[in-house]
Amino acid sequence: MTQSEEATDNRVLIFDTTLRDGEQSPGISLNTQEKLEIAQQLARLGVDVIEAGFPITSPGDFEAVQAISRTVHGPVIAALARCHAADIDAAFNAVRDADRPRIHTFISTSDIHIRHQLQSTREDVKGQARAAVAHAKSYVDDVEFSPMDATRADLEFTAEVCQIAIDEGATTINIPDTVGYTMPHEYEAMLRRLYELAPGLRGVVLSVHCHDDLGLAVANSFAGLRAGARQVECAVNGIGERAGNASLEEIVMLLHTRAADIGLRTGAVTREIARTSRMVSRLTGYAVQPNKAIVGRNAFAHESGIHQDGVLKERTTYEIMDATTVGLEANSIVLGKHSGRHALAQALSQLGFELEGQPLNAAFKRFKELADRKKQVTAMDLEALMTDEMRQEVAGYTLSWFDVEASSRRPPHATVAVHGPDGDELVGSFTGDGPVDAIFHAINAATNVEARLREFRVDAVTGGQDALGETSVVLEAAGATGAGQAVSTDILEAAARAYVRALSNAVRRQGALPEAADATAPAEILRAP
Ligand code: KIV
Ligand code: ZN
Repeated sequence: MTQSEEATDNRVLIFDTTLRDGEQSPGISLNTQEKLEIAQQLARLGVDVIEAGFPITSPGDFEAVQAISRTVHGPVIAALARCHAADIDAAFNAVRDADRPRIHTFISTSDIHIRHQLQSTREDVKGQARAAVAHAKSYVDDVEFSPMDATRADLEFTAEVCQIAIDEGATTINIPDTVGYTMPHEYEAMLRRLYELAPGLRGVVLSVHCHDDLGLAVANSFAGLRAGARQVECAVNGIGERAGNASLEEIVMLLHTRAADIGLRTGAVTREIARTSRMVSRLTGYAVQPNKAIVGRNAFAHESGIHQDGVLKERTTYEIMDATTVGLEANSIVLGKHSGRHALAQALSQLGFELEGQPLNAAFKRFKELADRKKQVTAMDLEALMTDEMRQEVAGYTLSWFDVEASSRRPPHATVAVHGPDGDELVGSFTGDGPVDAIFHAINAATNVEARLREFRVDAVTGGQDALGETSVVLEAAGATGAGQAVSTDILEAAARAYVRALSNAVRRQGALPEAADATAPAEILRAP
């Protein structure tokens, strides 16, 4: 079945761009293993399309898109490309092994972008769009075209470019509100008018891609659906350039909760929402605000006495959704120190991690260490441990051991040993302002990398004094940003491990930057909005 057949009158396709637009959020740098893990979870969530990356931008991006194409089955796997032959070649080579590959190509149609960014003309944009779609179509059937910054562009011109793309074989036309400028009534009217101006739109899937600069991304996406769009581009937890993209969980739960009135449905498996949100937050280091709709810690909590009283009498008095619908009951799994390997394997399987052999042994070892320190090991703890276990395989540097001498009378002193990328043990010491500061500087001394801390956060995975601590670090080393996360019941250990991972990611990125600059355009415009 083609995408346009799938997007029937009342079926909305969910196009997830967490790994592309989402990954462009400042400070996020996922490695291939982490992207694969998220892509597998997106497949379990039942999204229709995974936009896996922008392959021309770096060898790392190319490798991740290729790995996802080869191993994730179910969703269409899309790769982004500007309207340049080299971008389209890279996108095709990255997705060619997918069961259902898509090339998504874009060029701006607003005069602001044409004049200042592309330094080109409308005629040239038409020519580039025509050539790019034809080139992409020579590789794959499924081609998406986006007129970037469409909401600030001349509508007649945008319609003309869209019609050209359709004539060349585009199967999806996506209308981005690139800078989050439009308003719902305006966007709805714009799309309705586009249908009149570009009659070919009736034969393809119309898609919406809205940014949240004015907090309207979900409202605008919904307005687009009212005008006839049947694909929504969105990201888990609403991550993305600047203020982010439309939040996947919000648009899915809007369509689900108000299905009787709206009459549209998605293929999303809603009970996977909470777990997907936690995984994305953990791997990106982007915390979810407590009052975030659908996935915030308080989204289903009732604080005021009147509300609690009402919910106890009848849940629907103050709840429009059931927490189990989005998978928030996941914490029901509880293991303890007497639980065996088999019980762990079963609990992990319920959480979507199928482990056996050596990976199960490694997970069991960490579980036992945790169960010795913590009475009850919950599903959230297991998820955190598993995500952490997976990260260990990919770091360039790994923490070996550390000592900290701390006192309220003397500045703390730390000595840290780190295994380098080729396995040597590197040792460094530092006397800092606090124990965490001393450890971080000692890691710099050991690795000989002058990293500068940009963000440091500590969260508890679950409640209680024995809770696992989860740390997140963002740092900068020689112009590259790296993020790292880690969990442990010992906060200092979690901080040290997160810092070492962030540093490894920054160093890895430094290696990738010169190659990205070799591409056909300056590095700064390789990152699409
Ligand atoms: O916001 C935007 O315009 C984009 C395009 C590349 C679709 O992300
Ligand atoms: Zn975007």
